Amino acid sequence: MKYLVINGVNLNLTGKREKGVYGTQTLEEINAEIKKYCNGALESEVDFYQSNIEGEIVNKLHEAYLVGEYDGILLNAGAFTHYSYAIRDAIAAIDIPVVEVHISNVHAREEFRHNSVLSAVCKGVVCGFGVGSYVAALTALHYAFAIAE
Ligand code: DQA
Repeated sequence: MKYLVINGVNLNLTGKREKGVYGTQTLEEINAEIKKYCNGALESEVDFYQSNIEGEIVNKLHEAYLVGEYDGILLNAGAFTHYSYAIRDAIAAIDIPVVEVHISNVHAREEFRHNSVLSAVCKGVVCGFGVGSYVAALTALHYAFAIAE
């Protein structure tokens, strides 16, 4: 299996911004941990992409679909989660399962974070476990493929 992890707006500053909420690990360190788990426990490959630009995330989702290289996608869209109908439509347009991921528990935070415009077109949602959110999402997605076989 091959997976793609997409991080959106402001996630490049993870480990440096709001450490009490997002932790002290940088995105590079988080990605290294995800890769180690994915290559090891799941015997799968994983690529990473980050952008602060909404349209670039849309382009990446299109590319993933058109090239057909990935079996599944994890998407932490950051604040785009709460208002980007463009990213929502891109997820709905592609025939690859996308799991919505958040480092923090968005439901325990400000009210504007309680709503996601992406969840309804995603295969599932994992939030609140720090790096564990990505690991849990990847595990669940991988498991879903295994039981579908
Ligand atoms: C986030 C939660 C979002 O509400 C926020 O805008 C982020 C990060 C998370 O991973 O917890 O930038 O997606």
